[in-house]
Amino acid sequence: MKLIQMTKTSSFSLISTNKIIQINNVWTSYDSKNFALEGINLSIDRGTNYAIVGQSGSGKSTLLKLMNGMMIPSQGTIKIDYVTPNMNNKKFKHMMHTIGYIPQSLGLVKNITVIENIMIGALPRLNKIESMFKRFPEHEINEAKRIISLVGLTGKEERKAYMLSGGEKRRVAIARALMQKPTILLADEIVSELDHVTAREIMNLIAEAQKRMNLTAIMVHHDMQLALEYANRVAVIKEGQKILEIGVEGDKIVDFQTGDLNTEEIMEMYDDSKK
Ligand SMILES: Nc1ncnc2c1ncn2[C@@H]1O[C@H](COP(=O)(O)OP(=O)(O)O)[C@@H](O)[C@H]1O
Ligand SMILES: [Mg+2]
Repeated sequence: MKLIQMTKTSSFSLISTNKIIQINNVWTSYDSKNFALEGINLSIDRGTNYAIVGQSGSGKSTLLKLMNGMMIPSQGTIKIDYVTPNMNNKKFKHMMHTIGYIPQSLGLVKNITVIENIMIGALPRLNKIESMFKRFPEHEINEAKRIISLVGLTGKEERKAYMLSGGEKRRVAIARALMQKPTILLADEIVSELDHVTAREIMNLIAEAQKRMNLTAIMVHHDMQLALEYANRVAVIKEGQKILEIGVEGDKIVDFQTGDLNTEEIMEMYDDSKK
């Protein structure tokens, strides 16, 4: 972690430059009448796994879309590696390919093969001609092979995407995102529809990729237990507001938002958030 030491009057304070995502008092609306998010504050440390949990319609997907520059806030600021996510921002356009976004629908092209889907992640690195003819240099093909092996899809390269199981489809979506060489991975309910065992296989896979590639993963989950198991921090969203930010330390659930709540109080608040 990089730290900058600053003198503030007579005392020292340490300001971390390790925050890859900083969201400050963000409000956003789809129809300029109702707010989908109301005054969201959060900051995410580089290389960590951050989870967002909440009921359907609470604003989780909206939050990911803001981080990806697909939406802009009506109020407040967002910084991704100190850059404002906005398609009109040149600086952001340059770094966009380093954000791997997996929508809830996965966004795979059904009628093309596993390898063809995965190679889509490398397209931003090709020159115009290579990209037009989808001619991938050998080192990109080798990179794809490495990633295919990492996600456990070796032998399935030529299979059409529509022929795959739910777990395999998710592996392809992860591989396509990793092919982008991302620094941030945004995944929207990627394991929600999977059985317990497959969900953990996919989560372990992401944890492994994170370690190898120093990825920051921001994942929307339905299941709080799974979120707490894998994430360093879990934000609980209710009706567009962040009502809790928690994590596991030892055998306790810790309240990082106010520092005031104990495990029982946190669970009570979480249960209330589902009402
Ligand atoms: N494209 C859209 N147009 C209008 N309202 C939307 C749109 N997408 C989401 N919303 C509304 O914004 C709120 C948050 O939605 P969303 O972020 O999708 O929630 P979640 O992912 O937690 O289920 C909901 O009230 C939803 O109806
Ligand atoms: Mg959603």
